[in-house]
Amino acid sequence: MGVETSAAWQALNVHCDSGAGSTHLSQLFEDNTRTERFSIELDEMYVDFSKNRITDETLGLLFNLAKQQDLSGWIKKLLCGEKVNDTEDRAVLHTALRAQGMGVDCFAKEVQPLVAEQLAKMGKIVDKIRAGHWRGYSGKPITDVVNIGVGGSDLGPLMITNSLQTIKSPVNLHFISSIDGTQTSNLLKKLSQETTLFILASKSFSTIDTLSNAETAKDWLREKVKSEKTLLAQHFLGVSTKPDMMTEWGIPPENQLVFWDWVGGRYSLWSAIGLPIALQIGMDGFSELLSGAHLMDSHFGTAPLEKNIPVLLGLIDVWNVNFLGIHDKAILPYDARLKYVPSYFEQLVMESNGKSVNRAGERVQYKTCPVLWGEVGPNAQHAFYQLLHQGTQPVMCDFIAPVERDDFDMSSHAEKDESLSYQHELAMANCFAQSRVLMLGDDAIPDALKAAFDSPFKHYPGNQPSNTILLKTISPKTLGMLVALYEHKTFVEGVIWEINSFDQWGVELGKLIAKETHAAIKSVALAEKFDASTASLIKRITK
Ligand code: F6P
Repeated sequence: MGVETSAAWQALNVHCDSGAGSTHLSQLFEDNTRTERFSIELDEMYVDFSKNRITDETLGLLFNLAKQQDLSGWIKKLLCGEKVNDTEDRAVLHTALRAQGMGVDCFAKEVQPLVAEQLAKMGKIVDKIRAGHWRGYSGKPITDVVNIGVGGSDLGPLMITNSLQTIKSPVNLHFISSIDGTQTSNLLKKLSQETTLFILASKSFSTIDTLSNAETAKDWLREKVKSEKTLLAQHFLGVSTKPDMMTEWGIPPENQLVFWDWVGGRYSLWSAIGLPIALQIGMDGFSELLSGAHLMDSHFGTAPLEKNIPVLLGLIDVWNVNFLGIHDKAILPYDARLKYVPSYFEQLVMESNGKSVNRAGERVQYKTCPVLWGEVGPNAQHAFYQLLHQGTQPVMCDFIAPVERDDFDMSSHAEKDESLSYQHELAMANCFAQSRVLMLGDDAIPDALKAAFDSPFKHYPGNQPSNTILLKTISPKTLGMLVALYEHKTFVEGVIWEINSFDQWGVELGKLIAKETHAAIKSVALAEKFDASTASLIKRITK
Protein backbone atom coordinates (compact mmCIF):
# COMPACT_ATOMS: atom_id res chain seq x y z
CA MET A 1 0.00 0.00 0.00
CA GLY A 2 1.54 3.28 -1.10
CA VAL A 3 1.51 6.61 0.70
CA GLU A 4 -1.43 7.72 -1.46
CA THR A 5 -3.75 5.37 0.41
CA SER A 6 -2.59 6.49 3.84
CA ALA A 7 -4.74 8.47 6.28
CA ALA A 8 -2.55 11.59 6.13
CA TRP A 9 -2.59 11.67 2.31
CA GLN A 10 -6.35 11.10 2.20
CA ALA A 11 -6.88 13.93 4.69
CA LEU A 12 -5.01 16.25 2.33
CA ASN A 13 -7.20 15.08 -0.55
CA VAL A 14 -10.32 15.90 1.43
CA HIS A 15 -8.88 19.29 2.43
CA CYS A 16 -8.05 20.05 -1.20
CA ASP A 17 -11.49 19.02 -2.47
CA SER A 18 -13.30 20.96 0.21
CA GLY A 19 -12.13 24.31 -1.10
CA ALA A 20 -8.41 24.63 -0.32
CA GLY A 21 -7.52 23.53 -3.84
CA SER A 22 -9.71 26.11 -5.51
CA THR A 23 -9.18 29.20 -3.38
CA HIS A 24 -7.41 31.86 -5.43
CA LEU A 25 -4.21 33.37 -4.05
CA SER A 26 -5.68 36.86 -4.24
CA GLN A 27 -8.44 35.71 -1.86
CA LEU A 28 -5.88 34.19 0.51
CA PHE A 29 -4.04 37.52 0.54
CA GLU A 30 -7.06 39.29 1.97
CA ASP A 31 -5.44 38.11 5.21
CA ASN A 32 -2.64 40.62 5.70
CA THR A 33 -0.90 38.55 8.31
CA ARG A 34 -0.09 35.59 6.08
CA THR A 35 3.38 36.73 4.99
CA GLU A 36 4.40 37.16 8.60
CA ARG A 37 3.25 33.61 9.30
CA PHE A 38 4.46 32.05 6.05
CA SER A 39 8.00 33.38 5.88
CA ILE A 40 11.15 32.48 7.72
CA GLU A 41 14.60 33.94 8.20
CA LEU A 42 17.78 32.01 8.81
CA ASP A 43 20.98 33.96 9.16
CA GLU A 44 21.59 35.63 5.77
CA MET A 45 18.62 34.01 4.04
CA TYR A 46 14.97 35.04 4.03
CA VAL A 47 12.31 32.76 2.54
CA ASP A 48 8.82 34.01 1.72
CA PHE A 49 6.52 31.07 0.97
CA SER A 50 3.30 32.99 1.53
CA LYS A 51 2.51 33.12 -2.21
CA ASN A 52 1.56 29.44 -2.12
CA ARG A 53 -2.00 28.17 -2.09
CA ILE A 54 -1.74 27.07 1.53
CA THR A 55 -3.43 27.84 4.82
CA ASP A 56 -2.47 26.95 8.39
CA GLU A 57 -4.68 23.90 7.99
CA THR A 58 -2.84 22.83 4.83
CA LEU A 59 0.48 23.07 6.62
CA GLY A 60 -0.87 21.17 9.63
CA LEU A 61 -2.00 18.33 7.38
CA LEU A 62 1.35 18.34 5.55
CA PHE A 63 3.16 18.07 8.89
CA ASN A 64 0.93 15.09 9.73
CA LEU A 65 2.01 13.52 6.44
CA ALA A 66 5.65 14.17 7.30
CA LYS A 67 5.19 12.57 10.71
CA GLN A 68 3.39 9.60 9.22
CA GLN A 69 6.32 9.11 6.78
CA ASP A 70 8.77 9.40 9.72
CA LEU A 71 10.52 12.33 8.10
CA SER A 72 12.41 13.19 11.31
CA GLY A 73 13.68 9.61 11.48
CA TRP A 74 14.86 9.77 7.86
CA ILE A 75 16.63 13.09 8.47
CA LYS A 76 18.51 11.49 11.38
CA LYS A 77 19.40 8.47 9.24
CA LEU A 78 20.71 10.71 6.46
CA LEU A 79 22.82 12.93 8.71
CA CYS A 80 24.21 9.98 10.67
CA GLY A 81 25.36 8.16 7.58
CA GLU A 82 22.96 5.22 7.57
CA LYS A 83 22.71 3.52 4.19
CA VAL A 84 19.77 5.54 2.89
CA ASN A 85 20.85 4.86 -0.70
CA ASP A 86 19.56 1.31 -0.48
CA THR A 87 19.71 0.29 -4.15
CA GLU A 88 23.46 0.93 -4.06
CA ASP A 89 23.85 -0.10 -0.41
CA ARG A 90 25.55 3.19 0.47
CA ALA A 91 25.44 5.96 3.01
CA VAL A 92 24.91 9.48 1.70
CA LEU A 93 27.26 11.81 3.47
CA HIS A 94 27.81 14.98 1.52
CA THR A 95 26.91 16.71 4.79
CA ALA A 96 30.04 15.21 6.40
CA LEU A 97 32.15 16.99 3.78
CA ARG A 98 31.12 20.39 5.04
CA ALA A 99 31.01 19.74 8.77
CA GLN A 100 34.69 20.65 9.14
CA GLY A 101 34.72 18.53 12.27
CA MET A 102 31.70 20.19 13.87
CA GLY A 103 28.42 18.78 15.11
CA VAL A 104 28.44 15.42 13.36
CA ASP A 105 27.74 12.04 14.79
CA CYS A 106 27.72 8.34 14.02
CA PHE A 107 29.43 7.31 10.76
CA ALA A 108 29.60 10.96 9.72
CA LYS A 109 32.09 11.45 12.57
CA GLU A 110 34.24 8.49 11.54
CA VAL A 111 34.85 9.91 8.08
CA GLN A 112 36.01 13.32 9.35
CA PRO A 113 39.74 12.41 9.36
CA LEU A 114 39.49 11.23 5.72
CA VAL A 115 37.74 14.45 4.75
CA ALA A 116 40.26 16.60 6.62
CA GLU A 117 43.18 14.79 4.98
CA GLN A 118 41.89 15.46 1.47
CA LEU A 119 41.02 19.07 2.31
CA ALA A 120 44.60 19.57 3.52
CA LYS A 121 46.03 18.01 0.34
CA MET A 122 43.70 20.12 -1.77
CA GLY A 123 44.79 23.21 0.19
CA LYS A 124 48.45 22.61 -0.66
CA ILE A 125 47.69 22.20 -4.36
CA VAL A 126 45.43 25.26 -4.36
CA ASP A 127 48.00 27.46 -2.60
CA LYS A 128 50.74 26.33 -4.97
CA ILE A 129 48.72 27.11 -8.09
CA ARG A 130 47.34 30.41 -6.78
CA ALA A 131 50.83 31.54 -5.79
CA GLY A 132 52.14 30.83 -9.29
CA HIS A 133 54.44 28.09 -8.03
CA TRP A 134 52.90 25.28 -10.07
CA ARG A 135 54.93 25.25 -13.26
CA GLY A 136 54.26 23.80 -16.66
CA TYR A 137 56.80 21.77 -18.65
CA SER A 138 58.79 24.83 -19.72
CA GLY A 139 59.02 26.29 -16.23
CA LYS A 140 56.39 29.00 -16.70
CA PRO A 141 53.68 29.35 -14.01
CA ILE A 142 50.23 27.96 -14.75
CA THR A 143 47.82 30.67 -15.87
CA ASP A 144 44.86 28.59 -17.08
CA VAL A 145 43.11 25.69 -15.38
CA VAL A 146 40.62 23.59 -17.35
CA ASN A 147 38.13 21.41 -15.48
CA ILE A 148 37.16 18.39 -17.56
CA GLY A 149 34.04 16.74 -16.11
CA VAL A 150 30.34 16.40 -16.71
CA GLY A 151 27.12 16.44 -14.63
CA GLY A 152 28.02 16.66 -10.96
CA SER A 153 31.71 16.82 -11.85
CA ASP A 154 31.12 20.02 -13.82
CA LEU A 155 27.94 21.86 -12.89
CA GLY A 156 28.68 22.53 -9.20
CA PRO A 157 32.08 24.20 -9.73
CA LEU A 158 30.80 25.93 -12.87
CA MET A 159 27.75 27.33 -11.09
CA ILE A 160 29.58 28.46 -7.95
CA THR A 161 32.58 30.02 -9.73
CA ASN A 162 30.26 31.90 -12.07
CA SER A 163 28.11 33.07 -9.16
CA LEU A 164 31.24 34.37 -7.42
CA GLN A 165 32.75 35.90 -10.54
CA THR A 166 33.42 39.20 -8.80
CA ILE A 167 36.00 37.41 -6.66
CA LYS A 168 38.87 37.50 -9.09
CA SER A 169 40.74 34.25 -9.54
CA PRO A 170 44.55 34.37 -9.83
CA VAL A 171 44.24 31.80 -12.64
CA ASN A 172 41.77 31.70 -15.52
CA LEU A 173 39.24 28.93 -15.04
CA HIS A 174 37.59 27.04 -17.89
CA PHE A 175 35.10 24.19 -18.02
CA ILE A 176 34.66 21.59 -20.70
CA SER A 177 32.02 18.91 -20.48
CA SER A 178 30.28 18.05 -23.72
CA ILE A 179 31.24 14.83 -25.45
CA ASP A 180 31.16 16.33 -28.96
CA GLY A 181 34.51 18.05 -28.45
CA THR A 182 33.48 21.51 -29.66
CA GLN A 183 34.17 23.19 -26.32
CA THR A 184 37.54 21.45 -26.12
CA SER A 185 38.70 22.35 -29.59
CA ASN A 186 37.50 25.96 -29.28
CA LEU A 187 39.19 26.41 -25.94
CA LEU A 188 42.49 24.74 -26.78
CA LYS A 189 42.95 27.11 -29.73
CA LYS A 190 43.12 29.96 -27.24
CA LEU A 191 45.42 28.36 -24.65
CA SER A 192 49.12 27.62 -24.47
CA GLN A 193 50.44 24.18 -23.54
CA GLU A 194 53.15 25.82 -21.47
CA THR A 195 50.76 27.37 -18.98
CA THR A 196 47.66 25.13 -18.96
CA LEU A 197 46.73 22.63 -16.28
CA PHE A 198 43.83 20.18 -16.62
CA ILE A 199 41.70 18.78 -13.82
CA LEU A 200 40.25 15.43 -14.78
CA ALA A 201 37.15 15.27 -12.59
CA SER A 202 35.11 12.09 -12.59
CA LYS A 203 33.62 10.25 -9.65
CA SER A 204 33.56 6.94 -11.53
CA PHE A 205 36.57 7.70 -13.74
CA SER A 206 34.76 5.84 -16.48
CA THR A 207 32.56 8.53 -18.02
CA ILE A 208 33.30 8.48 -21.75
CA ASP A 209 32.41 12.18 -22.14
CA THR A 210 35.14 13.17 -19.70
CA LEU A 211 37.72 10.58 -20.73
CA SER A 212 37.39 11.44 -24.43
CA ASN A 213 37.86 15.16 -23.72
CA ALA A 214 40.84 14.31 -21.50
CA GLU A 215 42.45 12.23 -24.29
CA THR A 216 42.04 15.18 -26.67
CA ALA A 217 43.71 17.43 -24.09
CA LYS A 218 46.53 14.90 -23.67
CA ASP A 219 47.09 14.76 -27.45
CA TRP A 220 47.17 18.55 -27.55
CA LEU A 221 49.86 18.62 -24.86
CA ARG A 222 51.84 15.93 -26.69
CA GLU A 223 52.25 18.37 -29.60
CA LYS A 224 54.66 20.29 -27.36
CA VAL A 225 55.64 18.12 -24.42
CA LYS A 226 58.00 15.30 -25.33
CA SER A 227 58.12 13.55 -21.96
CA GLU A 228 54.88 11.76 -21.08
CA LYS A 229 55.93 11.75 -17.44
CA THR A 230 56.35 15.54 -17.40
CA LEU A 231 53.10 16.00 -19.28
CA LEU A 232 51.16 14.01 -16.69
CA ALA A 233 52.99 15.30 -13.62
CA GLN A 234 52.84 18.99 -14.49
CA HIS A 235 49.68 19.31 -16.55
CA PHE A 236 47.11 16.95 -15.02
CA LEU A 237 45.35 16.71 -11.69
CA GLY A 238 42.76 14.00 -11.04
CA VAL A 239 39.71 14.03 -8.76
CA SER A 240 37.86 10.75 -8.38
CA THR A 241 36.74 7.98 -6.04
CA LYS A 242 38.99 5.62 -8.06
CA PRO A 243 42.68 6.24 -7.31
CA ASP A 244 43.73 3.01 -9.10
CA MET A 245 42.06 4.11 -12.31
CA MET A 246 43.61 7.57 -12.06
CA THR A 247 47.04 5.90 -11.66
CA GLU A 248 46.37 3.62 -14.62
CA TRP A 249 45.45 6.67 -16.73
CA GLY A 250 48.82 8.16 -15.77
CA ILE A 251 48.04 10.69 -13.06
CA PRO A 252 50.71 10.41 -10.35
CA PRO A 253 49.41 9.83 -6.78
CA GLU A 254 50.62 13.25 -5.59
CA ASN A 255 48.34 14.86 -8.21
CA GLN A 256 45.31 12.83 -7.15
CA LEU A 257 42.53 14.01 -4.87
CA VAL A 258 40.00 11.43 -3.81
CA PHE A 259 36.48 11.31 -2.52
CA TRP A 260 34.23 8.39 -1.64
CA ASP A 261 31.27 6.38 -2.88
CA TRP A 262 29.12 7.90 -0.12
CA VAL A 263 29.24 11.22 -2.00
CA GLY A 264 26.75 11.29 -4.88
CA GLY A 265 27.99 12.95 -8.09
CA ARG A 266 25.36 15.69 -7.93
CA TYR A 267 26.21 16.26 -4.24
CA SER A 268 29.97 16.42 -4.75
CA LEU A 269 30.88 20.09 -5.09
CA TRP A 270 31.79 20.07 -1.38
CA SER A 271 34.50 17.47 -2.00
CA ALA A 272 37.70 17.88 -4.07
CA ILE A 273 35.34 18.21 -7.05
CA GLY A 274 35.14 21.79 -5.73
CA LEU A 275 38.83 22.31 -6.60
CA PRO A 276 38.09 24.99 -9.26
CA ILE A 277 36.04 26.88 -6.65
CA ALA A 278 38.94 26.82 -4.20
CA LEU A 279 41.31 27.94 -6.98
CA GLN A 280 39.12 30.97 -7.55
CA ILE A 281 38.23 31.98 -4.00
CA GLY A 282 41.05 30.36 -2.00
CA MET A 283 40.73 27.79 0.76
CA ASP A 284 39.31 30.34 3.21
CA GLY A 285 36.54 31.13 0.74
CA PHE A 286 35.95 27.41 0.16
CA SER A 287 35.69 26.95 3.91
CA GLU A 288 33.02 29.71 4.04
CA LEU A 289 31.06 27.87 1.35
CA LEU A 290 31.24 24.69 3.45
CA SER A 291 30.23 26.62 6.57
CA GLY A 292 27.18 28.07 4.83
CA ALA A 293 26.06 24.59 3.84
CA HIS A 294 26.79 23.26 7.32
CA LEU A 295 24.66 26.02 8.81
CA MET A 296 21.76 24.75 6.69
CA ASP A 297 22.57 21.14 7.68
CA SER A 298 22.41 22.04 11.37
CA HIS A 299 19.12 23.84 10.81
CA PHE A 300 17.74 20.85 8.90
CA GLY A 301 18.85 18.45 11.62
CA THR A 302 17.60 20.43 14.61
CA ALA A 303 14.77 22.83 13.70
CA PRO A 304 11.24 21.53 14.41
CA LEU A 305 9.35 20.53 11.25
CA GLU A 306 7.19 23.66 11.51
CA LYS A 307 10.20 25.98 11.36
CA ASN A 308 12.45 23.91 9.13
CA ILE A 309 13.03 25.60 5.76
CA PRO A 310 13.89 22.53 3.63
CA VAL A 311 10.98 20.65 5.25
CA LEU A 312 8.51 23.49 4.62
CA LEU A 313 9.56 24.01 1.01
CA GLY A 314 9.65 20.26 0.33
CA LEU A 315 6.17 19.71 1.79
CA ILE A 316 4.76 22.67 -0.14
CA ASP A 317 6.16 21.18 -3.36
CA VAL A 318 4.41 17.91 -2.50
CA TRP A 319 1.15 19.83 -1.95
CA ASN A 320 1.57 21.58 -5.30
CA VAL A 321 2.47 18.42 -7.22
CA ASN A 322 0.17 15.83 -5.71
CA PHE A 323 -2.87 17.80 -4.63
CA LEU A 324 -2.97 20.91 -6.81
CA GLY A 325 -1.69 19.05 -9.89
CA ILE A 326 1.23 21.41 -10.63
CA HIS A 327 3.94 19.45 -12.39
CA ASP A 328 6.32 22.19 -13.53
CA LYS A 329 8.72 24.33 -11.61
CA ALA A 330 10.68 27.33 -12.87
CA ILE A 331 13.89 28.45 -11.17
CA LEU A 332 14.26 32.20 -11.68
CA PRO A 333 17.35 33.94 -10.30
CA TYR A 334 17.28 37.73 -10.56
CA ASP A 335 21.01 38.21 -10.90
CA ALA A 336 22.97 37.20 -13.99
CA ARG A 337 25.76 35.80 -11.84
CA LEU A 338 23.36 33.00 -10.90
CA LYS A 339 23.03 31.98 -14.55
CA TYR A 340 23.93 28.33 -13.96
CA VAL A 341 21.76 27.88 -10.87
CA PRO A 342 18.80 26.55 -12.93
CA SER A 343 20.98 23.93 -14.70
CA TYR A 344 22.53 22.94 -11.40
CA PHE A 345 19.13 22.48 -9.73
CA GLU A 346 17.82 20.62 -12.78
CA GLN A 347 20.40 17.88 -12.21
CA LEU A 348 20.11 17.97 -8.43
CA VAL A 349 16.34 17.68 -8.37
CA MET A 350 15.46 15.67 -11.48
CA GLU A 351 18.32 13.16 -11.25
CA SER A 352 17.40 12.67 -7.59
CA ASN A 353 13.62 12.45 -7.76
CA GLY A 354 12.84 11.65 -11.39
CA LYS A 355 11.73 8.18 -10.28
CA SER A 356 8.58 6.11 -10.60
CA VAL A 357 9.46 3.12 -8.44
CA ASN A 358 9.39 3.26 -4.64
CA ARG A 359 11.95 1.85 -2.22
CA ALA A 360 10.09 -1.47 -2.24
CA GLY A 361 10.51 -1.71 -6.04
CA GLU A 362 6.84 -1.06 -6.79
CA ARG A 363 5.54 1.41 -9.34
CA VAL A 364 4.12 4.44 -7.56
CA GLN A 365 0.54 5.55 -8.23
CA TYR A 366 1.16 9.28 -7.86
CA LYS A 367 3.31 11.95 -9.48
CA THR A 368 6.81 12.49 -8.18
CA CYS A 369 9.40 15.02 -9.37
CA PRO A 370 8.11 18.05 -11.27
CA VAL A 371 9.84 19.11 -14.48
CA LEU A 372 12.32 21.81 -13.57
CA TRP A 373 13.67 24.48 -15.83
CA GLY A 374 14.73 28.05 -15.56
CA GLU A 375 16.75 31.01 -16.68
CA VAL A 376 18.00 34.31 -15.33
CA GLY A 377 14.64 35.93 -14.48
CA PRO A 378 14.89 39.26 -16.31
CA ASN A 379 15.88 37.43 -19.52
CA ALA A 380 13.20 34.81 -19.05
CA GLN A 381 10.60 37.59 -18.78
CA HIS A 382 11.30 38.27 -22.44
CA ALA A 383 11.21 34.59 -23.35
CA PHE A 384 8.93 32.11 -21.58
CA TYR A 385 7.06 34.22 -18.99
CA GLN A 386 4.24 34.54 -21.51
CA LEU A 387 3.43 30.89 -20.71
CA LEU A 388 3.64 31.54 -16.97
CA HIS A 389 1.14 34.38 -17.23
CA GLN A 390 -1.29 33.10 -19.83
CA GLY A 391 -0.46 29.49 -20.69
CA THR A 392 -2.73 26.57 -19.94
CA GLN A 393 -0.67 24.78 -17.33
CA PRO A 394 0.09 25.83 -13.80
CA VAL A 395 3.75 26.39 -12.93
CA MET A 396 5.28 26.96 -9.51
CA CYS A 397 8.22 29.36 -9.42
CA ASP A 398 11.21 29.91 -7.17
CA PHE A 399 12.47 33.49 -7.34
CA ILE A 400 16.02 33.90 -6.02
CA ALA A 401 17.67 37.29 -5.51
CA PRO A 402 20.36 39.06 -3.50
CA VAL A 403 19.25 41.88 -1.20
CA GLU A 404 22.44 43.84 -1.74
CA ARG A 405 25.16 43.90 -4.30
CA ASP A 406 28.48 44.29 -2.57
CA ASP A 407 30.46 43.81 -5.74
CA PHE A 408 30.33 47.35 -7.12
CA ASP A 409 33.64 49.10 -6.79
CA MET A 410 32.75 51.93 -4.42
CA SER A 411 36.20 53.53 -4.42
CA SER A 412 36.11 54.85 -7.97
CA HIS A 413 33.64 55.38 -10.81
CA ALA A 414 31.03 56.82 -8.46
CA GLU A 415 28.68 57.44 -11.32
CA LYS A 416 28.98 53.91 -12.58
CA ASP A 417 28.27 52.56 -9.11
CA GLU A 418 25.15 54.63 -8.92
CA SER A 419 23.92 53.32 -12.23
CA LEU A 420 24.63 49.74 -11.16
CA SER A 421 22.73 50.23 -7.91
CA TYR A 422 19.93 51.64 -10.00
CA GLN A 423 20.03 48.53 -12.21
CA HIS A 424 19.94 46.29 -9.15
CA GLU A 425 16.82 48.16 -8.00
CA LEU A 426 15.27 47.61 -11.40
CA ALA A 427 16.05 43.89 -11.23
CA MET A 428 14.43 43.64 -7.78
CA ALA A 429 11.41 45.67 -8.94
CA ASN A 430 10.94 43.18 -11.77
CA CYS A 431 11.38 40.19 -9.50
CA PHE A 432 8.75 41.38 -7.01
CA ALA A 433 6.41 42.61 -9.77
CA GLN A 434 6.48 39.26 -11.54
CA SER A 435 5.76 37.16 -8.47
CA ARG A 436 2.95 39.60 -7.59
CA VAL A 437 1.32 39.46 -11.04
CA LEU A 438 1.71 35.68 -11.17
CA MET A 439 -0.06 35.53 -7.82
CA LEU A 440 -2.84 38.13 -8.23
CA GLY A 441 -3.39 38.11 -11.98
CA ASP A 442 -5.99 40.73 -13.00
CA ASP A 443 -6.24 41.89 -9.38
CA ALA A 444 -2.77 43.42 -9.75
CA ILE A 445 -4.03 45.82 -12.45
CA PRO A 446 -4.30 49.34 -10.97
CA ASP A 447 -7.84 50.77 -11.10
CA ALA A 448 -6.79 53.53 -13.46
CA LEU A 449 -5.71 50.94 -16.03
CA LYS A 450 -8.59 48.49 -15.70
CA ALA A 451 -10.35 49.82 -18.82
CA ALA A 452 -7.22 49.45 -20.94
CA PHE A 453 -7.00 45.78 -19.92
CA ASP A 454 -10.63 45.02 -20.66
CA SER A 455 -9.99 42.37 -23.30
CA PRO A 456 -9.84 38.54 -23.25
CA PHE A 457 -6.29 38.79 -24.64
CA LYS A 458 -5.24 40.91 -21.71
CA HIS A 459 -6.63 38.60 -19.04
CA TYR A 460 -4.20 37.37 -16.36
CA PRO A 461 -5.55 34.42 -14.40
CA GLY A 462 -2.78 34.58 -11.76
CA ASN A 463 -2.90 32.00 -8.97
CA GLN A 464 0.59 30.70 -9.90
CA PRO A 465 2.32 29.85 -6.62
CA SER A 466 5.87 30.91 -5.87
CA ASN A 467 8.57 31.13 -3.25
CA THR A 468 10.94 34.08 -2.99
CA ILE A 469 14.38 33.40 -1.54
CA LEU A 470 16.43 36.47 -0.66
CA LEU A 471 20.14 36.14 0.07
CA LYS A 472 21.86 39.01 1.87
CA THR A 473 24.51 39.08 -0.85
CA ILE A 474 25.86 36.49 -3.25
CA SER A 475 28.70 35.10 -1.19
CA PRO A 476 30.31 31.70 -0.58
CA LYS A 477 28.29 31.41 2.63
CA THR A 478 24.87 32.22 1.15
CA LEU A 479 25.51 29.99 -1.87
CA GLY A 480 26.42 27.16 0.52
CA MET A 481 23.13 27.73 2.34
CA LEU A 482 21.12 27.89 -0.88
CA VAL A 483 22.50 24.70 -2.39
CA ALA A 484 22.18 22.77 0.88
CA LEU A 485 18.58 23.99 1.17
CA TYR A 486 17.71 22.53 -2.23
CA GLU A 487 19.57 19.29 -1.48
CA HIS A 488 17.58 18.76 1.71
CA LYS A 489 14.30 19.89 0.19
CA THR A 490 14.84 17.28 -2.53
CA PHE A 491 15.42 14.60 0.12
CA VAL A 492 12.26 15.63 2.01
CA GLU A 493 10.21 15.14 -1.17
CA GLY A 494 11.88 11.76 -1.78
CA VAL A 495 10.94 10.64 1.74
CA ILE A 496 7.28 11.60 1.26
CA TRP A 497 7.20 9.91 -2.16
CA GLU A 498 8.95 6.82 -0.72
CA ILE A 499 11.66 6.89 -3.36
CA ASN A 500 15.43 6.70 -3.12
CA SER A 501 16.70 10.16 -4.10
CA PHE A 502 20.31 9.05 -4.32
CA ASP A 503 20.61 6.57 -7.18
CA GLN A 504 20.28 7.32 -10.90
CA TRP A 505 19.68 4.03 -12.69
CA GLY A 506 17.70 5.86 -15.32
CA VAL A 507 20.85 7.15 -16.99
CA GLU A 508 22.69 3.81 -17.16
CA LEU A 509 20.91 2.08 -20.03
CA GLY A 510 21.52 5.03 -22.36
CA LYS A 511 25.26 4.85 -21.66
CA LEU A 512 25.33 1.12 -22.45
CA ILE A 513 23.35 1.48 -25.67
CA ALA A 514 25.56 4.40 -26.77
CA LYS A 515 28.52 1.98 -26.75
CA GLU A 516 26.63 -0.49 -28.92
CA THR A 517 25.55 2.35 -31.23
CA HIS A 518 29.10 3.64 -31.50
CA ALA A 519 30.22 0.16 -32.58
CA ALA A 520 27.54 0.25 -35.30
CA ILE A 521 28.74 3.67 -36.49
CA LYS A 522 32.22 2.21 -36.83
CA SER A 523 30.98 -0.93 -38.54
CA VAL A 524 27.68 -0.13 -40.20
CA ALA A 525 26.63 -3.75 -40.77
CA LEU A 526 25.97 -3.94 -37.03
CA ALA A 527 23.20 -1.35 -37.45
CA GLU A 528 21.01 -3.94 -39.21
CA LYS A 529 19.91 -5.38 -35.87
CA PHE A 530 18.59 -1.98 -34.71
CA ASP A 531 15.13 -0.55 -35.34
CA ALA A 532 14.61 1.05 -38.76
CA SER A 533 14.83 4.61 -37.52
CA THR A 534 18.14 4.17 -35.68
CA ALA A 535 19.63 2.08 -38.52
CA SER A 536 18.66 4.73 -41.07
CA LEU A 537 20.12 7.55 -38.94
CA ILE A 538 23.39 5.64 -38.61
CA LYS A 539 23.52 5.02 -42.36
CA ARG A 540 22.97 8.72 -43.05
CA ILE A 541 25.96 9.80 -40.99
CA THR A 542 28.25 7.01 -42.22
CA LYS A 543 27.71 7.62 -45.93
O1 F6P B 1 25.30 10.04 -16.08
C1 F6P B 1 24.95 10.61 -14.88
C2 F6P B 1 26.14 10.78 -13.98
O2 F6P B 1 26.50 9.57 -13.44
C3 F6P B 1 25.88 11.80 -12.88
O3 F6P B 1 25.23 11.27 -11.80
C4 F6P B 1 27.26 12.29 -12.60
O4 F6P B 1 27.25 13.51 -11.92
C5 F6P B 1 27.82 12.39 -13.99
O5 F6P B 1 27.25 11.30 -14.69
C6 F6P B 1 29.31 12.34 -14.09
O6 F6P B 1 29.82 11.14 -13.57
P1 F6P B 1 31.33 10.99 -13.19
O7 F6P B 1 31.66 12.02 -12.19
O8 F6P B 1 31.44 9.60 -12.65
O9 F6P B 1 32.15 11.17 -14.43
